[in-house]
Parts: sequence; structure tokens; C-alpha cells
Amino acid sequence: MTMDKKTLSGRTAIVTGASSGIGLAIAKQLAQASAHVFLAGRTSEPMEEAKHTIEQDGGNATVLTVDLRDPFQVQNLVEAAVMRTGRLDIMVNNAGLEFPSSIVDGSPEEWRAMLETNVLALLVGCQSAVVAMRECGAKGHIVNISSVSAQRRNSGVYGATKHAVNVISASLRDELEEDDIRVTNVLPGATATNFARNFPGPFVEKMIEMSGTELTPKRGEHYSPETLGEFAKNMKKNLCSAEDIANAVMYVVTQPINVNVADIVVRPPRAMTTPH
Ligand SMILES: NC(=O)c1ccc[n+]([C@@H]2O[C@H](COP(=O)([O-])OP(=O)(O)OC[C@H]3O[C@@H](n4cnc5c(N)ncnc54)[C@H](OP(=O)(O)O)[C@@H]3O)[C@@H](O)[C@H]2O)c1
Repeated sequence: MTMDKKTLSGRTAIVTGASSGIGLAIAKQLAQASAHVFLAGRTSEPMEEAKHTIEQDGGNATVLTVDLRDPFQVQNLVEAAVMRTGRLDIMVNNAGLEFPSSIVDGSPEEWRAMLETNVLALLVGCQSAVVAMRECGAKGHIVNISSVSAQRRNSGVYGATKHAVNVISASLRDELEEDDIRVTNVLPGATATNFARNFPGPFVEKMIEMSGTELTPKRGEHYSPETLGEFAKNMKKNLCSAEDIANAVMYVVTQPINVNVADIVVRPPRAMTTPH
């Protein structure tokens, strides 16, 4: 999205899950609009690379390597941003993951990972952000990344976590009616990111074949933003790009504070029938 370079000047933003995919794209766009961006994730290398690029372009970025499944690390992340800049204006609770399997055959440890990352970390992120935004008198935006999976009742354990995100966003929006803090729920459709890294091999192989790219499936690992960009370019009918979702977030955080953008659904032209 092309935006005045100074639109978010003087604002502080946190993006969770900024080492990859949608979070990385959001962090870059916030920095391009002059926000000081705190990138939080477990894998530091891509976040350090993004920080380097942002600073070369004259922006401000700080990398915080954290495991968001630990509520204290989420609280510390918000405190660190406030300590460093004196404020918090934008909180993007984006980190999330999916282990697609049935309830009958699924693993409780994989359910725990999804519940702690997609729900608990987001809840603590919301709570900590409200405290920080109230303290500094920010006209704040909290953006929670849900999924179109949460538009279906039968979307499995991952879908259940995203239904929870919808309920948390709507409930917090009500709680904050008297504050200058808006809460927006963004529901992406299938998007070309590292998200499918825990998906079954045949699904990933099929997607790679459809894209016509020469990728080797890497279970559990990251592809670079350049590789994913190439993948997204070849799959425009089937997949959003991470930038498409980031554009929606930039729309939200640049609205006047009296504009309450509740939910945004962003999806590619073709609906995906497999979970995402
Ligand atoms: N891609 C899609 O099709 C799609 C569709 C609908 C919704 N979404 C949602 O969009 C959000 C972003 O996903 P994505 O597609 O960009 O996937 P991604 O490329 O896999 O990125 C997920 C991010 O979450 C971070 N993360 C996961 N667990 C973490 C933890 N315990 N602590 C810190 N960071 C953690 C990852 O960091 P590390 O790898 O460094 O741990 C990574 O930066 C998720 O909430 C996802 O549910 C995605």
C-alpha cells in the first residue's frame, strides 16, 4: 500500500509473529509509514534482516526474540516497547500456527501449542496493550489476526482457536467503547506464507506443483520472503500475498479513532477447500 511516509510518525507498534509471512509484511509496512516497530518472534534472523532494511530506509525497528506461549514473555514484550519509546499505539496480535489433524487422531501437545499461541498469547497481548495504551493516553489500535476458518463451524481445533479470537475481539471491542482504543479482527483467507510448514507432505507438494515453482518441501522450516513472493505471484487466484493482508491492517490503523472497523475478511478469488 502506498502511504505518506510520515503517516505513523511518533507511533509505537508491536507485531507478534514478525519473523515470517503476514507479520513480517505488516511490520515492514508499519515501518514504511514511520512507526517504530517492535518485531517479536522466535526466529531472530529474518527479523534482524528486516530491521536492517527498515533502518537503511531511515525507519526505526527493534527485534525481540520471544516465545509467546509464555504469558510473561508477552507482558515483557509490551513493557520493553513502552520502556524504549514511552508509548504503545498499535498492537498486532498475529502469531499463530496450525497442526491440521482430526479430533479423533490429533495430539494434545499440538492442541496445546495452538491454544497457547493462537489464544492465550493473543489474550495476554490484548490485556497488556490496553494497560500500556491507557497509561500513555494513546489513540490505540489493537488488531487481531483470525482466519476465514472461523467463519465455519466445522473447522477443527485450529478453527476453534480462531473462533475464540473472534469472540475475544468482539468482547474486547465492547469493553473498550468508552476508551480511545479500537479493536479490529482481520480474517485472512489462504495466504502464501510459511503457515503450511506443519501440514501433511502431500498437501504441500500439491501446492508447490500448482505454483509451478521448484521448491523442496521443508517440514517445520521457513522459506525466505523472496521465495514466498515468487510462490504467491504464481498462485494469485488461489492465495493472497502477505502484503494483501498487511494492506488491510494499514487501512485499519490509519483510520480516525471514531471509526470502529470491526472485522475485515481478505481472501483470494478462489475458495480453498482444505483447512487454512
Ligand atoms: N497463511 C494462511 O493461509 C493464513 C490464513 C488465515 C489466517 N492466518 C493467520 O495469520 C497469522 C500469521 O500466520 P502466517 O500465515 O504469516 O504464518 P507463518 O509464516 O508461519 O508465520 C507465523 C508467525 O508466528 C510466529 N510464532 C508462532 N509461534 C510462536 C511462538 N510460540 N512465539 C513467537 N512467535 C511465534 C512465527 O515465528 P517463528 O517461526 O519465529 O516461531 C511466525 O513469525 C496466524 O495467526 C495464522 O493463523 C494465516
